[in-house]
Amino acid sequence: MPRDDALEVFEAATFKFTYLAQPLNRYTFKAPKVRAWVEQYCKGLVVLNLFAGPTRLSGCIEYSNDLDPNFATTFHLDALDCVNLLRSNLERKFDRIVIDPPYSYRKSMELYHGNKNSRFKKILDLIPEILTPKGLVITFGYHSNVMSKKRGFAIREILLISHGGAQHDTIVSVEERIKVTEKEIIT
Ligand SMILES: C[S@@+](CC[C@H](N)C(=O)[O-])C[C@H]1O[C@@H](n2cnc3c(N)ncnc32)[C@H](O)[C@@H]1O
Repeated sequence: MPRDDALEVFEAATFKFTYLAQPLNRYTFKAPKVRAWVEQYCKGLVVLNLFAGPTRLSGCIEYSNDLDPNFATTFHLDALDCVNLLRSNLERKFDRIVIDPPYSYRKSMELYHGNKNSRFKKILDLIPEILTPKGLVITFGYHSNVMSKKRGFAIREILLISHGGAQHDTIVSVEERIKVTEKEIIT
């Protein structure tokens, strides 16, 4: 007999779920299992790695950005400025966009010299303009539904990374762009 106060299930999980155990690393892609997991999505494709850190992704054509000038990235811009620059000089759209910002204000201050993930919502709003139809956005953080339905995306995979001990897990979502503009359908 269903109870009145039972939780309602709004959406059945139709995406893949993956669970990985990997010790925490300040620079996410230095952890080999996480790096391999991301790279399998990027093979042979054009990738924008927006908060790229020190590790370059291999097997893909990577455009990397990090505010920290010590890292050998293509751009050293605030992520929003980088997206705006790419929008105004778009030669081709990206097949994959990887977003691995500082997960909280405290982490920005403690781990990344105060470099903050500024204006995050604005970045997400602009991403469809520089992503191919059916392109994927891979986002790391404490939230699972990032681009979300309202921006025309559907979740394809959730990766939960368990770091052990008292560390928070990391949630990674893979979201596919399913809504395209009329202009994109015609061309
Ligand atoms: C969680 S780390 C991830 C780095 C990278 N994905 C890796 O695996 O090493 C976050 C990175 O974002 C950079 N960052 C912080 N604020 C930024 C901003 N507003 N724009 C661009 N990069 C920023 C930091 O310098 C740091 O390298």
